[in-house]
Amino acid sequence: MGLQRSLVTFLLGFLLVNLYPPAMARFVVEKNSLTVASPDSIRGTHDSAIGNFGIPQYGGSMAGTVAYPKENRKGCRGFDESGISFKSKPGALPTLVLVDRGDCFFALKVWNAQKAGASAVLVADHIEEALITMDTPEEDISSAKYIENITIPSALIEKSFGEKIKKEISAGEMVNVNLDWREAVPHPDDRVEYELWTNSNDECGIKCDMLMEFVKDFKGAAQILEKGGYTQFTPHYITWYCPQAFTISKQCKSQCINRGRYCAPDPEQDFSTGYEGKDVVLENLRQLCVFRVANETKRPWVWWDYISGA
Ligand SMILES: *[C@@H]1O[C@H](CO)[C@@H](O)[C@H](O)[C@H]1NC(C)=O
Ligand SMILES: *[C@@H]1O[C@H](CO)[C@@H](O)[C@H](O)[C@H]1NC(C)=O
Repeated sequence: MGLQRSLVTFLLGFLLVNLYPPAMARFVVEKNSLTVASPDSIRGTHDSAIGNFGIPQYGGSMAGTVAYPKENRKGCRGFDESGISFKSKPGALPTLVLVDRGDCFFALKVWNAQKAGASAVLVADHIEEALITMDTPEEDISSAKYIENITIPSALIEKSFGEKIKKEISAGEMVNVNLDWREAVPHPDDRVEYELWTNSNDECGIKCDMLMEFVKDFKGAAQILEKGGYTQFTPHYITWYCPQAFTISKQCKSQCINRGRYCAPDPEQDFSTGYEGKDVVLENLRQLCVFRVANETKRPWVWWDYISGA
């Protein structure tokens, strides 16, 4: 567990430790489970989709109390402007801030909440839909400054669930939840199972630069660990999907395959030049395929050579 912990910290959230049972050759919106401990009326487990930024506590869990701000409910402005702080008192449970989706980037909401002392952020969806991955803003210079400083985890929750939480909070109930990234408990052996969460797109700005740097730096160690049987890794590729109403739009046609089911943002944010988002999706699939074949032939480390162009 010690090694697992330090790896997780070191990898800045690119690793998913035992988050999911291996999901081969298919894309998933990475989910973690969120369990409401109290009040009884909404007790139970709900899905939530992990944000594509910040540092989820892979392999761990976090218990906290949900706060829904009285003002600035979308979290698009600094909470200090309204004199709101989410810092929990020493010994108290951490505060998970609930904000509403809309008006600004997911990452900005999370950044504002983090600055105000939140330990994690739940974003309530504003329409009923299957959960999507919350992405960072595309190539936006002003956001690049704060994205790298987001350290708290965040997750999108379904609209109906968000409404239930709000109703309880407004009735004065204390809503206690547990966010859990463990899902599958590590095996009691001398091997660390980890999951690499990645994307073949290397032109998405700071996030991709960090990923590329990491892959370059970690490849040697990863291959040694794998060959020595100390680790077993599974790569995951993140995907987006096109909202139903837009599946025939130019954007979705260029960024998606399979009629909008699997999408990736256009690498250059320009539909007329260079690669299209769907090229990224296809390359992701190719890399997954390489992994599958390499793993089946007991040489999973070959995947690192392939993705780093060696
Ligand atoms: C992010 O963190 C760095 C290093 O701690 C700091 O220099 C920088 O000002 C921070 N950026 C923002 C937007 O807070
Ligand atoms: C890779 O291979 C190992 C054993 O050969 C297997 O246990 C593991 O599930 C495979 N990983 C994936 C993601 O298929």
